[in-house]
Amino acid sequence: HFYGQSPPIYPSPEISGTGGWNEFSKAQALVLQMTLEEKTSLTGGYPNETSGCGGNIPAIARLGFPGMCLQDGPNGVRAADFVNGYPSGIHVGASWNKTLAYSQSHAIGGEFRRKGATVALGPPVLGPLGRIALGGRNWETYSNDPYLTGALGAEAVKGVQDNGVISCTKHFVGNEQEMHRNPRVDPDTNTTIEASSSNIDDRTMHEHYMWPFADAVHAGTASIMCAYERLNNSYSCHNSKLLNGLLKTELGFQGFVVSDWFAQHTGIASATAGLDMVMPYGYEFWGDNLTEAVRNGSISEGHINNMATRIMAAWYFSHQDDKSLPPVGVGLTANFEDRRAPTIDARDPNDAGLLMEGAIQGHVLVKNVKNSLPLKAPRMLSIYGYDAKLPDKSFSSGGYNGWALGLQSQNYRSIVCGFGPIGGQCPAFEPIAINGTMIGGGGSGAVTPVYMSSPFDALEKRARREGTQLFWDFNTENATSNINSNSDACLVFLNAASSEGVDRPSVRDSFSDSLVKNIAADCDNTIVTIHNAGVRLVDEWIEHPNVTAVIFAHLPGQDSGEAITKILYGDVSPSGKLPYSVPRNESDYGPVYAPVTHSGWDRYFPQDDFKEGVFTDYRAFDREGIDPRFEFGFGLTYTTFEYSNLKIENTVDSSTLTSYPMGPIIPGGHSDLWDTIATVTADVTNTGSVEAAEIAQLYVGIPMQDQPIRQLRGFDKVTVPPEETRTVEFKLRRRDLSTWDVHGQNWRLLVGSDYPVYVGASSRNLKLSANLSL
Ligand code: BGC
Repeated sequence: HFYGQSPPIYPSPEISGTGGWNEFSKAQALVLQMTLEEKTSLTGGYPNETSGCGGNIPAIARLGFPGMCLQDGPNGVRAADFVNGYPSGIHVGASWNKTLAYSQSHAIGGEFRRKGATVALGPPVLGPLGRIALGGRNWETYSNDPYLTGALGAEAVKGVQDNGVISCTKHFVGNEQEMHRNPRVDPDTNTTIEASSSNIDDRTMHEHYMWPFADAVHAGTASIMCAYERLNNSYSCHNSKLLNGLLKTELGFQGFVVSDWFAQHTGIASATAGLDMVMPYGYEFWGDNLTEAVRNGSISEGHINNMATRIMAAWYFSHQDDKSLPPVGVGLTANFEDRRAPTIDARDPNDAGLLMEGAIQGHVLVKNVKNSLPLKAPRMLSIYGYDAKLPDKSFSSGGYNGWALGLQSQNYRSIVCGFGPIGGQCPAFEPIAINGTMIGGGGSGAVTPVYMSSPFDALEKRARREGTQLFWDFNTENATSNINSNSDACLVFLNAASSEGVDRPSVRDSFSDSLVKNIAADCDNTIVTIHNAGVRLVDEWIEHPNVTAVIFAHLPGQDSGEAITKILYGDVSPSGKLPYSVPRNESDYGPVYAPVTHSGWDRYFPQDDFKEGVFTDYRAFDREGIDPRFEFGFGLTYTTFEYSNLKIENTVDSSTLTSYPMGPIIPGGHSDLWDTIATVTADVTNTGSVEAAEIAQLYVGIPMQDQPIRQLRGFDKVTVPPEETRTVEFKLRRRDLSTWDVHGQNWRLLVGSDYPVYVGASSRNLKLSANLSL
């Protein structure tokens, strides 16, 4: 009966300096010198008409503190010119490449630093975790799986922070849909409709939604953004169980919690619950009110010291006291016509290769028959679909207009609403029919890169070089009369758009499906590429014999066109795998296909019960015996691989293992949760004729009732030349083999049990298996 309720956890833990955070003593010393007003000024943003930063903390000049600039977002610097547009979260997720996640975030961090930003609001984005198929922001996160998301997220945190910027990991936690993400006033009754309450039980919270955040905290993320939604009926940004309890006590988080924009709905209660900084403005509930609250005894000055110390500790921890950093906010400007900030080119020419590599690695080939791909010196190509070409218009990066860039799908219709930041009401825009290729999604995660490479432009460049005849039709879905029967292939480009603020209307659209069917009716080598900001169903045409190849191209960033061209021509082999399952039908999702509409008793305080627990995506399909069209972890390439030689080695003597972790709390939880207790290796042999990368995956069945049949607990991406063999390695940590014990309130290892371990090419193509005995 505690379901959907949030117990009070007070007081708010003070920073302890554990886990390499010893510089917090510098923060303490500095805070000691601050007046009360100065300390409260650190805790809230202020309106700044000239700054282009999404959030601003004022300077304290007399103490040499230059203030802070908080800026979106996860795939590059938002609302800025002369920046790169990197692949989105879902694309990095599809690459399953930890090195890439690190390097990309490192490069993004560098651009924030050169623009004078202090805090990068992502990377990483670790929630939503893809619970709702139509969720509008699923593309910002790496995957629907907590392990994969956490493993990449940890690398992203390190990448950003190694390059001189504070990483803000978001959204903590349970922001799984855009509908009702914020409270709003019902115009009919003039009554407030609260944000929806994500009702998450204790075990699901630990094993699923909080899991990747533990990785980020362990990796040292210096700030965390609390989410818009209510969690178990208490707003995330003043939920003491979530912030004081789970984050600051259990995970030992040392940095500061910042509110999502306008997500604060109470004053003192949010401070005591563990919120340290409010954005974008402090004055509504905090600011002078907070100072006054200390003076009249409503809150202790010690508490304000705690908040200020966490903020300054994060600042020192990420080396923001480095005097060689550019002035705060220097390269960002609010107004591009009346330019007040100098134009700073934030790009590092050395990152060009990384951008291209990232763009390539998130493409997932899911069908390839009749020897269709790679193309073999084609003499004639026919190209279809508006997604092949550049949009007719690009948007100025000023004034935060960049968010519109993602709304490019012709059939995009916002039928469920929630566009904020304050509202949550239906958006006042008709989808902007830009009808062009899609390199990213919309909202705060949109970027406006210096250039965008479209598939058509890149293919045309190639055709010119090789003397290939091209035909094209970008606008009609019924282009059959155009098809020249000498075409070696018909390349069809589709997209499936998504933006922050609204959930998606559907996971397929009739315009694009008709286009594929019409082309396939007349062209026996129809190759489909889909730029998808989330799952996209393909069952209307996937078995059509003339649809010979299909690629989920996700959101590759600015080098999109060049990347797909290299893959189509076989300059490189595709190497991505699906970071989510693709089912056959919407109905396969059951109740988590679309957000629930609340018209009953909970109309004014919507209740979203996460009744399925940890059983989302492949965990659900495995349990229900639902056969997906393409399973989680699936992807083809231009060669084939064989798996052999599975070896499991216990690296800790089983007789010394305890059921519960005993180590001290460090950032991320008990220190020994992170210890490796077994190592698994296997051999992967390239049995084809071209070099390619394989993503070997390790799944574990935790031998306990109500656990998923299998869950991902390791992956390793290796490039293997033809006829050669590489060994993949997976380290299983205590946490990877533990379950959350609700009664013991701790992670429990099933000492004395046999854990089935599977290594294979996807969640259903499990080539090798053995038992791990603890
Ligand atoms: C989004 C955040 C973003 C913030 C600042 C909010 O609406 O949810 O992800 O960082 O705005 O732009």
